[in-house]
Amino acid sequence: MTPSKIGPGGQAPFVEANGARIPQRGFGTFQLRDDVCRKAVSAALDIGYRHIDTAAMYGNEVEVGESIRDSAIGRGEIFVTTKVWTDDIEENALLASARASLGRLRLEQVDLLLIHWPNRSIPLSSSIKGLCRARDEGLAAHIGVSNFPVALLEQAVKLAAGHGHKLVANQCENHPRLDQSKVIAACEAHGIAFTSYSPLGRGDIVGDEVIGQIAKAHSRKPSQIILRWHLQQKIVAIPRSSTPGHIADNFAIDDFELTGSDIARISALHRANGRMVTPAFAPDWDV
Ligand SMILES: NC(=O)c1ccc[n+]([C@@H]2O[C@H](COP(=O)([O-])OP(=O)(O)OC[C@H]3O[C@@H](n4cnc5c(N)ncnc54)[C@H](OP(=O)(O)O)[C@@H]3O)[C@@H](O)[C@H]2O)c1
Repeated sequence: MTPSKIGPGGQAPFVEANGARIPQRGFGTFQLRDDVCRKAVSAALDIGYRHIDTAAMYGNEVEVGESIRDSAIGRGEIFVTTKVWTDDIEENALLASARASLGRLRLEQVDLLLIHWPNRSIPLSSSIKGLCRARDEGLAAHIGVSNFPVALLEQAVKLAAGHGHKLVANQCENHPRLDQSKVIAACEAHGIAFTSYSPLGRGDIVGDEVIGQIAKAHSRKPSQIILRWHLQQKIVAIPRSSTPGHIADNFAIDDFELTGSDIARISALHRANGRMVTPAFAPDWDV
């Protein structure tokens, strides 16, 4: 992974990973539906986000596609990620899901197609073969995974290499309450971008006392401190919001810098039970 430098002055905030150039400031759309989704994605694009994260499971690909088309921004400037739901990751089902997503988005290709969650009942070899075929058939410019702990990521990397492909991203829960250093290190070792989902801890960490102290010291909002913590670790973050002021705040984070001591204090907030997203079908996590 070769992250571009970010810092005061607003240098291009991208992460480059195995041929992909991924805008670090992405916009999440989980639970945004209908007009709420259209308005939020349009607001995000107006403000400057150029990376939109959706999924077949979110039920909002139609609205995301409409907002992209309604914007005056060229398709080539917007990085669109979608995901194949865990029940649909057998090789042929995965391809059918990817085609259906493109139909709803009304796009010829997504920039990134992810396996949303691994599935113990479906051989990983079949899933990765399907993912690589999606790439070969041009349905996706890049491919990756989500919710893959280290051991599964290592298997996926090897399987993709067998088809001549490299994964570009692993999208996982990450915020100051959860220590994800093991899977982040594994991603780095393979040149794979780590993308933080629920980067604000689903909004729960915004009221944390330590974050509040650091926010006061920098005259910034707590959410901006948390998102800057993600960016300065050279990872991609995809906060979600349907509140216009929050959408703007979450993007305006490239004109200040946290100190090493700020980063260490925020990283020290992790706890053993910090994971917030752990459905019954989740894999065996690293921590
Ligand atoms: N791959 C996966 O399995 C997976 C799982 C979960 C999420 N994701 C992706 O990651 C995205 C983000 O994760 P998430 O939606 O779980 O959680 P999140 O982005 O950490 O938090 C969203 C919550 O924070 C609030 N919020 C946002 N900005 C704020 C601000 N500036 N100040 C105060 N509160 C703020 C939002 O409320 P308002 O709307 O009022 O701002 C919302 O309630 C998702 O939308 C989805 O795209 C992927």
